[in-house]
Amino acid sequence: MKKNIFWKNKNIFISGIAGFVGSNLAKNLVENGANVIGLTQNKKINSLLYYENIDKKINLIIGNITDKEFLKSIFLKYKIDICFHLAAQVEVGSALKYPYLTWETNVRGTYTLLEVIRENKKKIKSIIIASSDKAYGDYPLKSLPYKESYELKPSFPYDTSKACADMIAKSYASKLYKLPIIITRFANIYGSGQLNFTALIPDVIRSCILNKKFLMRSDGEAIRDFIYIDDIVELYKLLAKNLYLYPKKYSGEVFNAGTNVKYRIRDIVKKIFIYTKKENQLKNVFKKIKNNRTKGELSVQYMDYKKLNKFFGWKPKYRFSKTLPELINWYRKYFKKNNS
Ligand SMILES: NC(=O)c1ccc[n+]([C@@H]2O[C@H](COP(=O)([O-])OP(=O)(O)OC[C@H]3O[C@@H](n4cnc5c(N)ncnc54)[C@H](O)[C@@H]3O)[C@@H](O)[C@H]2O)c1
Repeated sequence: MKKNIFWKNKNIFISGIAGFVGSNLAKNLVENGANVIGLTQNKKINSLLYYENIDKKINLIIGNITDKEFLKSIFLKYKIDICFHLAAQVEVGSALKYPYLTWETNVRGTYTLLEVIRENKKKIKSIIIASSDKAYGDYPLKSLPYKESYELKPSFPYDTSKACADMIAKSYASKLYKLPIIITRFANIYGSGQLNFTALIPDVIRSCILNKKFLMRSDGEAIRDFIYIDDIVELYKLLAKNLYLYPKKYSGEVFNAGTNVKYRIRDIVKKIFIYTKKENQLKNVFKKIKNNRTKGELSVQYMDYKKLNKFFGWKPKYRFSKTLPELINWYRKYFKKNNS
């Protein structure tokens, strides 16, 4: 990896650092010489952060993103230059079951953090708020890919919680409070280090590698876009750095990112079965899915990167044909060490 001197000795706060995106971002920033300060709620989760001992190279803080006094003490102790807000309750199924917890974490967590930053005397130069493509809500296929100017009109709990956090962030970026904020709305992210097996790709790969029965939750017809974690880490760095250097130019901006490729869920499942040489089992997987219905999930979602390309010349580097074989190998190694 080419080192980027911009990050050397900068104090970077990442909320949700033990999560999939947070741990990959932390790994990269540590390699670039940054001082990383990371918050996570629970130490006892499967995470790349512990698997690759990244936790030993950062200041890891365990606590709740909704605890204002606790957050205040972190921002008083460390002179934070850049903040990535990634902490969230991200499971769509859990959100349906436990909407209150989802509002608390995703909505209260966001305004608590931004309020602490606003009240803090040391002015942070760059804040990235992770919203999501799900914040847009239900749009017909003919209106996709989403544009950043589209109205947010979600109805399911996770989607609504992200839209609320998104709007709160906009308010803090407005003329009223002038915090330097960029909001990101990304498609589904996949890649090494995703150890939450409620997500589709890790779930399918695990079933194939460990010879476990794979149960499709849906009829497989939903359309999604998937973007690789290495693209996302580079993109987060690009956005945070530009906002730091040119706050007036970029503050308040919203950026979508996806690959602009539409995948049917069942085609992703098929690809993984083929790459893991389990295609003879596909028939069984697809046999009974016709009547499967998922509650509380959108049927069509995909994103492009037009605005990002216009602003920064950015485009995604990775495609499934390159990433899937490498990713499957990564999980094979992981399961050799942790047969879960
Ligand atoms: N992964 C994706 O496909 C994707 C796509 C678009 C947007 N996003 C957004 O990106 C962000 C990161 O996603 P991820 O996949 O890494 O999620 P993740 O679930 O892997 O990580 C979330 C992290 O938040 C922490 N957290 C949860 N509740 C907390 C609380 N109350 N206090 C402190 N920490 C808490 C968890 O401990 C974990 O470290 C989220 O905001 C998510 O909504 C993710």
